[in-house]
Amino acid sequence: MEAIILSGGFGTRLRPLTYTKAKSLLPILNKPMIVHLIETLPKEVNKIILAVNYRKDQIENYFNENDFGKEIIVNDEPKPLGTGGATKFAEKHITGRFLVLNSDIICSLNLKDMIKFHINNKAIASISLWPVENVSEFGVADVRENGKIVGFVEKPKPEDAPSEFINAGAYCLEKKVLDYIDTGRLVSMEKEIFPQIIEDTNRFFGFKLKGYWMDIGRISSYIDVHRFLLNRNKIKKFQGNNCKVFGTIKETCIGNNVTIGKNSKLDCAVVYDNALIGENVELSYCVIGENCKIADFSDIRNSVIGDNEKLIENTILDNKAVWTQPIPEGYPDKQIGNVIEK
Ligand code: GDD
Ligand code: MG
Repeated sequence: MEAIILSGGFGTRLRPLTYTKAKSLLPILNKPMIVHLIETLPKEVNKIILAVNYRKDQIENYFNENDFGKEIIVNDEPKPLGTGGATKFAEKHITGRFLVLNSDIICSLNLKDMIKFHINNKAIASISLWPVENVSEFGVADVRENGKIVGFVEKPKPEDAPSEFINAGAYCLEKKVLDYIDTGRLVSMEKEIFPQIIEDTNRFFGFKLKGYWMDIGRISSYIDVHRFLLNRNKIKKFQGNNCKVFGTIKETCIGNNVTIGKNSKLDCAVVYDNALIGENVELSYCVIGENCKIADFSDIRNSVIGDNEKLIENTILDNKAVWTQPIPEGYPDKQIGNVIEK
């Protein structure tokens, strides 16, 4: 069985981290986000198709260097085709029923159980569902008691949302779903294809997942997922190799070769490889990029500092994203693929 992993978005809401890294390679507890997902794939998935475009080389290099015991195909779109277009573009690798997975989600979904649910319902398409209070940034399903989905709206206004159950970003699809998607154009699976399948087949189902679900769409959720996983695993801090920690760190994850000077305090921080944090620095609810230098007596809160940035002594920041380098060529100034209309 094949699994398509959608990993082509720019991750604009995770700027400036995504100016230098593919979203799906952003580390969570020092391991790329996409690897957490690959580890949840059941045995029957023997082939993974990575639907990529932006920073495809980074993704390809990573998978050339790391083996996950499954065949990996890097399927490079000539231009971003959206969630549906990217799925269609993988058609040549699909042999039968298949999975499609958003790569920016950390959750406890049991894919094996979801596939069983799909087969038992004789579904054409099944999607994972998760209840949330504020549905407006998600796709929302109108779901019946028996799991049948009778309507689907992507990013509705709160008053138009049919339920509290959102698309949790994992699909089990029959091969014929591909016939609904045009070749070579930007197609949103959620906006165009799901509603059509519901209307035509009436065999669209939702599998409510139990446990936890987190979408890593924004800097805040990126920090929150670290905190959540640390607490869940009952670990106070997570640290890579060759670190020198002279200060105190709490609910924090630091990468390799990180130095944290005397009297510095880190609380809910994510610090990437080779960062140098000076003395008497306070970091709270922050992400500090690779090779960054934060000089002594700085106080940084609720902020993200992009890779390779250097902050001088006494820098005080709250609720800021720091990026002083050129924006990579071709990086959009707004989100494409799944547009949030505001
Ligand atoms: N290959 C490829 N090409 N992948 C893409 C493209 C593209 O053009 N556009 C987006 N993706 C990938 C993203 O990297 C991500 O893994 C996935 O497709 C979903 O795109 P997002 O941009 O993250 O969408 P979203 O978060 O606004 O909404 C989606 O996820 C929600 C759950 O987190 C939708 O599927 C919603 O319905 C859902 O509720
Ligand atoms: Mg997303």
